[in-house]
Amino acid sequence: MSHPNLKLPPLKQFIDGEWVDSASERTMETIDPATGKAFAQVSAGDAEDVDRAVKSARLAVEHGPWTKVPPAARSRVLNRIADLIEARGEELATLESVDNGKPVTAARMADIPSSAGVFRYMAGWAMRMEGEQIPLANRPQGQFLAYTQRAPIGVVGQIVPWNFPLLMAAWKVAPALAFGCASILKPAEQTPLTAAALVQIAQEAGVPAGQLNLIQGLGHVVGAALVGHNEVNKIAFTGSTEVGKTIVRSGADTLKRISLELGGKSPTIVLADADIDAAVAGAAHAIFFNQGQICTAGSRLYVHESIYDKFIDRLATVAAALKTGPGLDPTTQIGPLVSEEQLRRVAGYVEIGKKEGAGVAVGGDAVGGPGYFYRPTILTHVNQKMRVVQEEIFGPVLVATRFKEIDEVVAMANDSVYGLAASVWTRDVSKAHAVARALHAGTVWVNCHHVMDPAMPFGGYKQSGWGREMGAAAYEMYTESKSVCIQL
Ligand code: NAI
Ligand code: MG
Repeated sequence: MSHPNLKLPPLKQFIDGEWVDSASERTMETIDPATGKAFAQVSAGDAEDVDRAVKSARLAVEHGPWTKVPPAARSRVLNRIADLIEARGEELATLESVDNGKPVTAARMADIPSSAGVFRYMAGWAMRMEGEQIPLANRPQGQFLAYTQRAPIGVVGQIVPWNFPLLMAAWKVAPALAFGCASILKPAEQTPLTAAALVQIAQEAGVPAGQLNLIQGLGHVVGAALVGHNEVNKIAFTGSTEVGKTIVRSGADTLKRISLELGGKSPTIVLADADIDAAVAGAAHAIFFNQGQICTAGSRLYVHESIYDKFIDRLATVAAALKTGPGLDPTTQIGPLVSEEQLRRVAGYVEIGKKEGAGVAVGGDAVGGPGYFYRPTILTHVNQKMRVVQEEIFGPVLVATRFKEIDEVVAMANDSVYGLAASVWTRDVSKAHAVARALHAGTVWVNCHHVMDPAMPFGGYKQSGWGREMGAAAYEMYTESKSVCIQL
């Protein structure tokens, strides 16, 4: 055990308000990516545990107190969850760093406050499950009263990834609870810790038994059981495009609602008139934040030819100066990748890029030694056909290309199976709007990148996903609409 003083949450299943072992009593290891050593054993569930959790969630959603109490009471519980996340912020940031590898400083600044922020925002929506009164078009006025009512979508299976374990759990659980759904949360097997802490916090804040269950375990076991279960009304998934497609296929049997936040290959576009200092810092943040393990990573850089050479020089200098080290070291800027598998995947892509003819402006190899560290990397001399330009790498690897005309860069930016996000760097407000309008992406940032907010809908075009989370879009995602028509 490499972390004897770490305060761990219960690493069991949470079903019907109780922490229990899995039916099989199997466990799995969780590994510290900075050392490659296992430091905790976590209960590993299977279809039987999922079934128990679904039964409890079904009871909660049909007969539990959560959908009967005044909405303001639900809202208060969500705010209490936010308070407790903030109160336990330091502990949660440490757990996140040890489990995922990310710098503890980043977890403190981003993951923890953003997670609390989602609960605070959704606390407001708990009191806004409003419908509409509808004047019927083809009936005499005054003879009918028609209105829509919003109802919780029911039991939701929420499958989250390892890159922002607490925040992705918050993105899922907060709207589910706000709109009266009962959730079965399935964390990634690589990062089980903070989801368990969140569930503990929710219980302490007053979420009733069955309303939020937690099943730890492997994706193709626990995740697949949730997707296949006929009593689960909806699956909300964040993860790989490949698994997203599997979920759509197997979810078809029960026609359950499915929302997907999948991969990306988001362009960072720097126009000739950009503020260069801001754009260099922004492009670095876009690709290197969270070791590049973020679905909105600005992983394709397009720079106007008039400033390209200078820009790449400066960006390479920034990349080379980033301090790589264990996440718990407060001076670390780049932590290890999450797993050996991810390190292999990233290193493999850079080798593919080299074979395809790419040049390496900086980085291009692993740091070596224990832990899964990879150097911030910029590949140049690439073209749109190369795999490193088309496929999601999900690591600190940027591919850089020059362009001449705006139409040309928009075409290259849109030449992707993905369409999650993009950023445009320019001082020209007309060009900013024109490019934002032309891009096929769920989010377009201008002179910033990775700015996410619970009030702003988030999701992707094309193979980046189905649906939008957050903001008013979350309301559509977690409720069913019912038309009620009364003859007066
Ligand atoms: P993954 O898609 O396998 O894992 C994400 C979640 O899905 C985890 O909770 C996992 O347990 C679950 N899962 C896996 N197989 C499942 C199945 N058959 N049915 C239901 N749930 C299942 O992603 P993985 O393997 O960890 O990473 C592979 C690549 O996926 C990354 O290199 C990256 O390109 C992409 N990815 C994208 C993320 C995003 O934020 N959009 C997050 C994580 C990975
Ligand atoms: Mg996988």
